[in-house]
Amino acid sequence: MGTGHNHHGFPMEILQLTTTPFYYYDLDVLRTTLAEIRRLTADGPYSVHYAVKANGNPRIISEIAQTGLGADLVSGHEIEAALAAGIPASEMTYSGVGKTDWEIRTGISHDIGCFNVESVPELEVINAIAGEMDATARVAIRVNPDIDAHTHKYITTGTADNKFGIPLESLQQVIGMAMSMPNIHLSGLHFHIGSQITQMQPYEMLCDTINGILDQYEGQGIQFEIINVGGGLGIDYDNPDTHPLPDLERYFNTFKQRLHLREGQRLHFELGRAIVGGCGSLICRVLYVKENRGKRFVIVDAGMNDLLRPALYGAHHQLQNLTSTSSDIETYDVVGPVCESSDVFAHDCRLPVTRRGDLIAIRSAGAYGESMASTYNMRSLPAGIFHSSIDK
Ligand code: LLP
Repeated sequence: MGTGHNHHGFPMEILQLTTTPFYYYDLDVLRTTLAEIRRLTADGPYSVHYAVKANGNPRIISEIAQTGLGADLVSGHEIEAALAAGIPASEMTYSGVGKTDWEIRTGISHDIGCFNVESVPELEVINAIAGEMDATARVAIRVNPDIDAHTHKYITTGTADNKFGIPLESLQQVIGMAMSMPNIHLSGLHFHIGSQITQMQPYEMLCDTINGILDQYEGQGIQFEIINVGGGLGIDYDNPDTHPLPDLERYFNTFKQRLHLREGQRLHFELGRAIVGGCGSLICRVLYVKENRGKRFVIVDAGMNDLLRPALYGAHHQLQNLTSTSSDIETYDVVGPVCESSDVFAHDCRLPVTRRGDLIAIRSAGAYGESMASTYNMRSLPAGIFHSSIDK
């Protein structure tokens, strides 16, 4: 590690910032991830759409826009943010079970690449609004393939008992309806089975399911221009320093090898966490260290409003004390200031002896961190601070 960095690799100038908490983004990690994605998707008819919900910070979206990725969006305001960052409308997909009329109109007026449609009533409304606007909307039907992604129950989406997509047994009927609607162009099929998926087996099952569907419809003379396999690739929350990037090669190879794309078909991916998760940390300052009945608590100035994942999903992020020089290790519960007992970042966390004023990094917080922050308790929203070794 060169001078100018602390023992955890954080730039000293970042550690000197006085207003905490803030999100720190390492643009070197983001750019390396994006370069790797480009390299792995250059050899075929592949497009990657960044799932903006993972992190909508304008600087992040424009970095991603510059590498030529498209965007996967879930609201009208996300469509506007992606346009503002320079992502062409033709490279946008719009997903979500509850699109409002205004949001549908926004998508149609910009002629976005594709609506990922989740229900028959939604399909009817898109057709009607496109008709009023004298336009044709391209749609992909979101299929719920009933595959268990073996991830947290709040972020699994492809099983039969949740609200997403159209069940396989209704697909034939919905395809027929879409093809008969005058202001709908059926472009393809969309799948998304869940998030923070680290094993390839659910993706292999997804490929097998899609192969079966394609065979079935090919027999009927129906071809799909686009197959969209969603996102969901997980990151290594336990080892942010040794694995700053997810296993992109294994992920893309799974689809390249197992999915039988047909002539002229394009394969779309919608990755969020895998692109931005590793580049961000939430940096906070220790306010107090207190002891209750033999248990030591570190109280930091970031709370569940800044990073909701631990409170909402019991998610584990690695914590590092960036400023302690002690070689003695203590065990602490690291908690925020918000008036909720779930406002805990880590139980029984082993850290060097920690004192008031120390800086703590909550790692792997680039995805679903800043984008899920709120002003609960009338707290300020955390700022995003960027660093790169090349642009000064
Ligand atoms: N496509 C669709 C249709 C999605 O619903 C999602 C995420 C993605 C793509 C991107 O998934 P990713 O590649 O980021 O896993 N807040 C939760 C995660 C919620 C994911 C919602 N959908 C968390 O903090 O873990």
